[in-house]
Amino acid sequence: MGNKFVMVGGGSTQSPGILEVLRQRATELNLTELVLYDIDEHRVSLLGQYTKMYYAETGSKVNVSFTTNIDEAFTGADFLFMQIRPGLNAQRAIDEKICLSHGVVGQETCGLGGFSFALRVIPAVRQIIQKVKEHCPDAWILNYTNPEAILSEAIFTEFPEAKCLCICDMPISIEGAIAKYLNKDLRDLTFKYFGLNHFGWWTAIIDKNGADLLPQLREDVLSGKIDTLLMSNDETVGDQYWIETYKQMIKIFKRFPKYFPNCYLQYYLTPDEMVEKDNPTFTRGDFVTNGREKRIYSECERVIANGSAKDSHLHAGVHGNYIVDIAHAIIHDTRERFTVNIMNNGSISNFDPKAVVELPAYVGAAGAEPIVVGEIPTFEKGLMESQKAYEKLTVEAALTGSYQTALEAVVLNKTIPNLTVGKAVLDELYAANKEWWPELT
Ligand code: G6P
Ligand code: MN
Repeated sequence: MGNKFVMVGGGSTQSPGILEVLRQRATELNLTELVLYDIDEHRVSLLGQYTKMYYAETGSKVNVSFTTNIDEAFTGADFLFMQIRPGLNAQRAIDEKICLSHGVVGQETCGLGGFSFALRVIPAVRQIIQKVKEHCPDAWILNYTNPEAILSEAIFTEFPEAKCLCICDMPISIEGAIAKYLNKDLRDLTFKYFGLNHFGWWTAIIDKNGADLLPQLREDVLSGKIDTLLMSNDETVGDQYWIETYKQMIKIFKRFPKYFPNCYLQYYLTPDEMVEKDNPTFTRGDFVTNGREKRIYSECERVIANGSAKDSHLHAGVHGNYIVDIAHAIIHDTRERFTVNIMNNGSISNFDPKAVVELPAYVGAAGAEPIVVGEIPTFEKGLMESQKAYEKLTVEAALTGSYQTALEAVVLNKTIPNLTVGKAVLDELYAANKEWWPELT
C-alpha cells in the first residue's frame, strides 16, 4: 500500500514549493495519494486544479485531489504537512501595522505580531489535532505553521504524545548559506545549535575532519572581510527583506561574536533598528499579499483557463526539500540529523526540562531524538528564559482566555518597553482579531 499525504492549508502560497518536491520524489516516499485540504474553498480549488493538471501532464502517477472536508481528507492519512494561516496575510499586515503604529516590532512571529498570530492559530490547530486523533492516529504531522515557537509549546503541552515534528526552514537555510560561504557541501558539515524557534545560536560548525570552522567565519566577519552571506534559498534571492535580514544577522554576529545568531534575533537584539527600517504603511504582510499571493493564484487561474499546465512549472525550494527530507527520514528510518522543535527534557541541562526548544535531532521511524547540548551560557540562557516564559504565558492565555495572563505575556515580551504601550497594543490587536482570538476575560 502506498502512502497518503495531506497538505493541511493546501491552498497556501507555501504549498507550491512543497508540491513540486513531492512530485519529484513521490517514488522514494511511496506517495500514491495526495490531498490538498483547506478551509478556503477558492484557494484550495485553484491550487488543487492546478496541481492535478500539473502532476498528470508531467507523468506523475500520484492521485491528486482537493477538499474542504476535513474528515474525508484525514481518513487513512499517513503524513500531514501542516501550514495554516487563519486570517491570511491580510490579517498579518493588520497586526504588523498596529504594532508599528506604537513604535514596536511588527512581525508575524516575533514581538506582538507573533502573540496575535498564536492566538489565531492555537485554537485552529487544537481542532486539527483532535481530528487527527479521530481519523488517522498513526499519521505523522510535520508542522511548518507559525509562530512555530509558541505553537510547538502549545502542541507538546496539550498533546505530549502527538506524533508531530515542528520544524522551520530558517536553520537549514542559514546553514546552507554558511556552507556556501565556506565553500563546503552542506552534507559534510555538522552544525551545533541550540535555542528556541527563531531565537537560537550556532556554537560550532564541524567539518569532515573534525575541525570547527566557526572561528574562521567569526574572523572574516570581525575583520570586515564580509558583511553578509549569500542566500542558499533561491526563493529569497533578490528579495530586499531577506537581503537586509542577512546583513543584519552579520551585524549582530559582529556585536555578539560568541555564537552565530539565527537571523530572527534581529527583532529582539536590535528592535530599534528594525522598527526604524520598517515601513508602517506597507509591511511584509502587504508585500506578500501583493506579490507572492497575486502571482501564485493568477498563475493558477491562467493554467485552469488554458486547460493545461504544460507551459507552467513550480519551483522546488529549501522549504519543500526540508519537509520532504524529514518525511523520507521517517519512512526509511534513516536517522539523519535535522533541526526540530522538541521538549527539552534535559538536552540543555540548565534549562527548563518541560519547555520546547529548537535543537538538532536524529530523525527516523522513532521520530526525533535530540542531541545533548549540556550547559548554555548566562546571556543566551537569560534571553531564552524570558522568551520562554512569554511563550508559555501566551499559550496559557490562548487556552484559558485569561486577559490578565495575556497582559503578563505581552509585558514580558522583550520588544515591549512598558505596560502603557503593551496594553494599548494588546487591546488594539484584540479588537482587530475578534473573529479569530478566543474571548479574553
Ligand atoms: C522563513 C521563516 C518562516 C516564515 C517565512 C516568512 O522561511 O522560517 O517561518 O514563515 O520566512 O516568509 P514571508 O515571505 O512570508 O515573509
Ligand atoms: Mn520559521
